[in-house]
Amino acid sequence: RNRQHQLEMQQLIETFPMFAQVSEDSQEELLLLFRPKSASPGERVVRAGDRGDGMYFISSGAVEVQLEDENVRLEAGAFFGEMALLSGGRRTADVVAVDFCEFLLLERRDFNMFMARHPALRAAVSNMARERTEMNVSR
Ligand code: CMP
Repeated sequence: RNRQHQLEMQQLIETFPMFAQVSEDSQEELLLLFRPKSASPGERVVRAGDRGDGMYFISSGAVEVQLEDENVRLEAGAFFGEMALLSGGRRTADVVAVDFCEFLLLERRDFNMFMARHPALRAAVSNMARERTEMNVSR
């Protein structure tokens, strides 16, 4: 493994500590699966009611999750778009870029394949989704 690759993996784990729990091989696999995406301020990245195309990891910038009565800001290191993938249902909210953003997109079939082989990671993502859902229904 070359130096460039090692640096990329180090950076990935610094931004997203949750990936420290998977093996180096799996980290490398993730780097291959991730699709880089960017967005400009004001751009809608995820539309409520759509089918889920993938899960987004924020490498830089910030987004706003537009809920019925509140907006939740998510920044670098956070993720979104996990709910529709886990439920097999529709996007639960609009997500809009509030800065220039860079994302790593894990497409749905890659998400399903990768998470099936990494139950601890899947559990961490599911727990976050559950917390978010509870937050949304209790408001
Ligand atoms: P999904 O429903 O696929 O698309 C909209 C996303 O907004 C959702 O996945 C979550 O990732 C995110 N989201 C929904 N509710 C909250 C919340 N209360 N806090 C943070 N993010 C949320």
